[in-house]
Amino acid sequence: MKIVMVGSGYVGLVSGACFADFGHEVVCVDKMESKIAALKQGEIPIFEPGLSELVRSNTEAKRLSFTTDLAGPVAQADAVFIAVGTPSRRGDGFADLSYVYAAAREIAHALDGYTVIVTKSTVPVGTGDEVERIIRELRPDADFAVVSNPEFLREGAAIDDFKRPDRIVIGTDDPRAQTLMADVYRPLYLNSAPILNTSRRTAELTKYAANAFLATKITFINEMADLCEQVGANVQDVARGMGLDNRIGSKFLHAGPGYGGSCFPKDTLALIKTAQDYGTPSRIVEAVASVNDLRKRAMAKKVVAACGGSVRGKTIAVLGLTFKPNTDDMRDAPSLSIVTALQDGGATIRAFDPEGMEQAKGMLPGGVVYCNDAYECVEGAHAAVIVTEWNIFRALDFQRLKATMAAPVLIDLRNVYRAEQVRAKGFTYVDVGRGV
Ligand code: UGA
Repeated sequence: MKIVMVGSGYVGLVSGACFADFGHEVVCVDKMESKIAALKQGEIPIFEPGLSELVRSNTEAKRLSFTTDLAGPVAQADAVFIAVGTPSRRGDGFADLSYVYAAAREIAHALDGYTVIVTKSTVPVGTGDEVERIIRELRPDADFAVVSNPEFLREGAAIDDFKRPDRIVIGTDDPRAQTLMADVYRPLYLNSAPILNTSRRTAELTKYAANAFLATKITFINEMADLCEQVGANVQDVARGMGLDNRIGSKFLHAGPGYGGSCFPKDTLALIKTAQDYGTPSRIVEAVASVNDLRKRAMAKKVVAACGGSVRGKTIAVLGLTFKPNTDDMRDAPSLSIVTALQDGGATIRAFDPEGMEQAKGMLPGGVVYCNDAYECVEGAHAAVIVTEWNIFRALDFQRLKATMAAPVLIDLRNVYRAEQVRAKGFTYVDVGRGV
């Protein structure tokens, strides 16, 4: 099977490398010449565990290649995946589909023989219809189908998620396209991953509904954490007690500083906009998005409170900057709001992240002192804050921290430690929702 990935960003690269690993012949296309040149040299522009090896082995096996030329590979392809970015549009939060439609136009000109065009990027309901309209208008003669096949990859676990998915959603009413897509996913199909054949609009909405629901679960437990703090209950036990009910499930009930990343914030906003446009506003998702925004700033207040009510003239060490561990992604990371609010409060920020420092330097406000490890980061600090639960922050040497800190205060926004354990080392310890 010949597959083209249009867009060699996170989704395109992971999906392309995994499809190649299934044995398909995959060409990843991107407009950025520097990116393609780097990929040809085996340099991966993102941090994702296992991706570099997967790209290298499949490139060597000549199943995976990279190019800036879209037309040649598309003419040969059985399936063309659109995996370009859909950032939030400034002003209204709606997904910016200009890259998707530009890709559709380019693909249209190159089509030759029956081809399935697949939207892999997360796109609002009706985008597939518009892609089909654009291609049909430009190429009335072309033989093609447009399918929605949303991805459900988590950054940091993307390859595993791709190879062992909970489900594969294929949205099309065209039987030929259904058969071709079943062939594309055959190796997983044989591993008994359920394939859900739906209409195109249903597939498009399923992706948003899933992400909005997960964001709701997180936001719900975060509110319960706040309540736990007030009533003297433990949110981890509450989450366990809830999660053991199969109808609820135990995942995505970890209280923390609020969700971030390239998906939940953007996708919840896009769903809110779609629901408003269709006259059926989603009040739950609207509440989730605004509660999550407020939460990030509330986390800075928690730090200020732990520092005795003011951080003016104090130094705060921020451990972890990315929106979650095992990624270098800083998009919508809670650290962005927390660092900004603490600086506004007059604090000097020292920061360390194992993979996110390069991106952070371009996104955090100026004045942050970037450090080489956790111990250098806490030097002279009046408090240390764990913002991202990287493994290396799970076994800190508290004696070493205490020796160089100006005050032994730890604010653990990910509940990595047990309170007794840290307090026994002479620290003031503040966590999220585990009583006082
Ligand atoms: C998310 C979904 O999990 C994927 O299924 C989906 O494919 C992807 O978005 C996407 O739409 O492309 P991702 O953003 O990579 O994946 O990361 P998650 O692991 O879902 O974490 C999102 C945020 O929620 C992080 O900030 C994380 O710290 C936070 N989170 C997650 C919590 O605060 N508590 C939890 O219990 C779980």
